[in-house]
Amino acid sequence: PERVLSGVQPTGSLHLGNYLGAIRQWVDFQNEDQFNDDGEVVPVENFFCVVDLHAITMPHDPKDLQESTLSSAALYLAAGIDPTKSKIFVQSHVPAHSELAWLLNCITPMGWLERMIQFKEKAKKQGESVGVGLFSYPILMAADIMLYQSTKVPVGEDQRQHLELTRDIVRRFNDLFCKGNPYKKRCKAAGVPSRPVFVEPDAIILKEGARVMSLTDGSSKMSKSDPSDASRINVLDDPKTIRDKIKRCKTDAIPGIEWDNPDRPEATNLLNIYSAVQPTKRTKEEILKEVGEMTWGEFKPVIADAIVNHLTPIQDRYYEVRNDPDALNEILKQGADAANEVAERTLLNTKVAMGFNIPP
Ligand code: TYM
Repeated sequence: PERVLSGVQPTGSLHLGNYLGAIRQWVDFQNEDQFNDDGEVVPVENFFCVVDLHAITMPHDPKDLQESTLSSAALYLAAGIDPTKSKIFVQSHVPAHSELAWLLNCITPMGWLERMIQFKEKAKKQGESVGVGLFSYPILMAADIMLYQSTKVPVGEDQRQHLELTRDIVRRFNDLFCKGNPYKKRCKAAGVPSRPVFVEPDAIILKEGARVMSLTDGSSKMSKSDPSDASRINVLDDPKTIRDKIKRCKTDAIPGIEWDNPDRPEATNLLNIYSAVQPTKRTKEEILKEVGEMTWGEFKPVIADAIVNHLTPIQDRYYEVRNDPDALNEILKQGADAANEVAERTLLNTKVAMGFNIPP
C-alpha cells in the first residue's frame, strides 16, 4: 500500500502558499485513486499532521501555540481533508516522533545538515542565538515521514531538499543496521519481521502552486516569516483585506499580463494564483484569452474576486469546525490513536535493528 504523509507548522496563520502548495494537494490525494505500474488501484493511507514540535524551532509564544495548533487542524478539515478517509493528528500527541528523531540525530552527519538552504536562511535572521533544534529540524521531519513508512510526501518546492535528505537518512540507516545475519537474529529474537526498516519516500510537488511568491516581491517566496502581512494572503483573510492586499501588491509598468517573462515575476505569480483558484481547471491559453490584454487596474479586481470566491466556502467551514471544539478534539484523538499504532511499531523495529534492549 501507499502511505501519504505531510504536515504544516502551526506558526501564525496559514497562507495561500501553504494551501496551494500543500493542503490542496493532500485533498486530491485523499479523493483520487492511486495506481501501481500495472494500472491497478492501490490502497492508500493518508496521514496529515500539525507539526507543532517544528513550530518551536523558532522563538515562539506559549500562549499562542495551542490556538494555532487547533486552528491549523480546523483548516485541514475546512479545506476538505475528510477524517473518515485520512488521519489528522498533532505531532506532539505521538511521542515516537521525538524519539525517532533522537535516534536519527545520532546517525546523521552534521555536514548533511549544514547544507540545508532553509537552515541557512532562517539562521541568518537569528545570529548567535540560533537553536540546535533549528539545525536538526530536517531530522525531525525525516522522522515524521519515516515512522509511517511513507512513500509519498506532497509538499511545496521549498521542501525538496529536505525530502532528499530524508532519502539519504533512510539509505544510511538501512545500510548501517538492516543488513546481514546479526540483524536477522535480533529480529527473530524480538519477534519482528526482518526487512529493511525504512522505505525511501518520494516528494510530490505540483507544477502549479509549488512556489507561490510574495505579493510585495515576485522573486521571493510567500512566507509566514515575512514581517509584512501585506506580502501574503492568509487563508482566513476577510474579503476586504484580500482586495486591499491585491490592490496594493507590486506590479510593473509593462502593458498586458503575461506568463513566464523572467522580467515580470509579479505577472507570472498573479497568473499562477489566478489559475490555481479557478473553480474548474482551465488551460493557460484560456486564461490568457480572458485577461492577457487587461491593464493591471482591470486585472486586479478580477483576481481578487477569484481568490475571495475560492476562499469563502473554506472560511465558512473553518468557523463551523472551530466552533465545535469537542468534535475537533475527538477527530484529533482518533487521528493520534491511529498514528501511534503505526509509529510505535516502526519505532520498535528501529530499536531492534539498532540493538537496544527491548523490555519484555
Ligand atoms: P511549512 O509550515 O513551512 O509549510 C507547509 C507546506 O507549505 C508549503 N509552502 C509553500 N508552497 C508553495 N508556495 C509557498 N510560498 C509556500 N510556503 C510554504 C511547504 O512546502 C510545505 O509543504 N518542514 C515543513 C513541515 C513538515 C513536513 C513534515 C512536511 C514537518 N514535517 C513531514 C512534510 C512531511 C515546513 O516547513 O512546512
